[in-house]
Amino acid sequence: MRIVVVGGAGTIGQRLLPALHQAGHEVVVAGRTSGEVRVDLVDHDSIEAMYREVGAVDAVVSIAAHGALDDFATLTTEAMAENMRAKFFGQADLVLTGQHHCADGASFTLTSGIFADQAWRGVTGGGVISGALHSFVLSAAIELPRRMRVNVVSPTMISDSVDAFDEHFPGMRPVSTDEVVAHYLRCVDGDDTGQIIRAYG
Ligand SMILES: NC(=O)c1ccc[n+]([C@@H]2O[C@H](COP(=O)([O-])OP(=O)(O)OC[C@H]3O[C@@H](n4cnc5c(N)ncnc54)[C@H](OP(=O)(O)O)[C@@H]3O)[C@@H](O)[C@H]2O)c1
Repeated sequence: MRIVVVGGAGTIGQRLLPALHQAGHEVVVAGRTSGEVRVDLVDHDSIEAMYREVGAVDAVVSIAAHGALDDFATLTTEAMAENMRAKFFGQADLVLTGQHHCADGASFTLTSGIFADQAWRGVTGGGVISGALHSFVLSAAIELPRRMRVNVVSPTMISDSVDAFDEHFPGMRPVSTDEVVAHYLRCVDGDDTGQIIRAYG
C-alpha cells in the first residue's frame, strides 16, 4: 500500500515507519517542517494541497499535533477552541477532505489519547479533543464512501516518551511503544472501522 503518515517524523512515527516498511508498504511522511510533503493541520488549503500532491493513497495515518496543557483557573473557551484546531479539527479535516482524494477502500487512522477517558490535571482541553475524536470516528465510519475505513488509536503515555512527559504526568503507567505500533499496523492492514483502540497499558 501507499501510505501518508502525517507527523511521521515524530516520536511515534520513528517507531511506526520501520514497521510499515517491514510490512512492505510505501510510506510518504508529511509535516509542517519535516518529511517529504508539507502540511499544517490547522490550514485546510495545505491539507487539500497535500492530497493533490500525494495522489490517491491507500491509507492515511495521523500521528501529529498534541493538545496543549492548560490551567483550569484561567482557561477560556477561546483557548479551548484554539487548542482543538490542529489535533481535533485538523485530523477531522484529514478525513473529510481525504474522502474525496483517497483510493477506494482507503483507511484513515487518527490519534487521540487517554485523557478522553481518564481525568488528569492540566489536560481539560486535551481530554475534550480526544473525546471529540472518538465521537467523530463513530459517525465517520458509517458515512465514508467507497468502502473507506476510519479508526482512532488512543494511547496513554508511550514508553518512548516517559523521559519527556514524566514531569507532567507523574505516576502515569506507560504503554509499550511496540504495542501502540502494532495497533496502527492493525488499523492499516486489517478490516476494522469505527474502532476506538484504547492502548492504556
Ligand atoms: N508520545 C506519547 O506518549 C503520546 C501519548 C498519547 C497520545 N499521543 C499523541 O500522538 C501524536 C504523536 O505524538 P508524538 O509524541 O509522536 O509527537 P511528536 O514527537 O511531537 O511528533 C509530532 C509530529 O507531528 C508533526 N506536527 C506537529 N504539529 C503539526 C501540524 N499542525 N500539522 C502537521 N504536522 C504537525 C511534527 O512535525 P513538524 O513539526 O515538522 O510539523 C512531528 O513530526 C500526538 O497527537 C500526541 O498527542 C502521544
